[in-house]
Amino acid sequence: MLTIAIRTLVAALALAGAACDERLADVAGPTANLTPTFSSIQRDIFQASDSSGRASCASCHNPSGGAFRQVGLDLASEGAYNSLVGVTSTQRPGVLRVAPGDPDSSYLMHKLEGRSGIAGLRMPRTPPFMTDGQIRIIRRWIELGAPRN
Ligand code: HEC
Repeated sequence: MLTIAIRTLVAALALAGAACDERLADVAGPTANLTPTFSSIQRDIFQASDSSGRASCASCHNPSGGAFRQVGLDLASEGAYNSLVGVTSTQRPGVLRVAPGDPDSSYLMHKLEGRSGIAGLRMPRTPPFMTDGQIRIIRRWIELGAPRN
């Protein structure tokens, strides 16, 4: 009986190990260097387009862009962190743009995933949208507490 329990445990651990072996670069897709840190997300997603043809967020979300006039969100500079983390959304004032530790309550995730409750359009406003892997990496950064790293 005990042996069976141990075997089951070993098998479960092996499975968990296999899941962790997934390489980050495979998940990151068209942004090979993307990691769940703020500096990487800013460099590889907010400020840059990628090989999928996705527009950079900063092309609209900059101090002289139309998106900034509409929703006041600047993703072009170092100020992006202070515009996101713990800051109330303009479109949905009851929701934080980024709620540290809670991606499902973060309006940024709602807009990237194109959830039904959002105001306006899914981001980045025109396709191609972000890949599932890119979205997972941003989600992970928020799960880790959305540190300024
Ligand atoms: C083509 C221009 C354009 C691009 C590119 C773009 N946005 Fe937007 N964004 C807008 C506009 C315009 C709005 C307001 C209208 C709407 O939501 O459709 C907006 C609204 C938002 C909001 C809501 C802000 C709030 O406080 O309610 C978030 C969050 C957002 N964008 C994030 C992003 C991110 C992240 C990217 C890059 C992945 C991105 N956007 C790319 C134009 C753009």
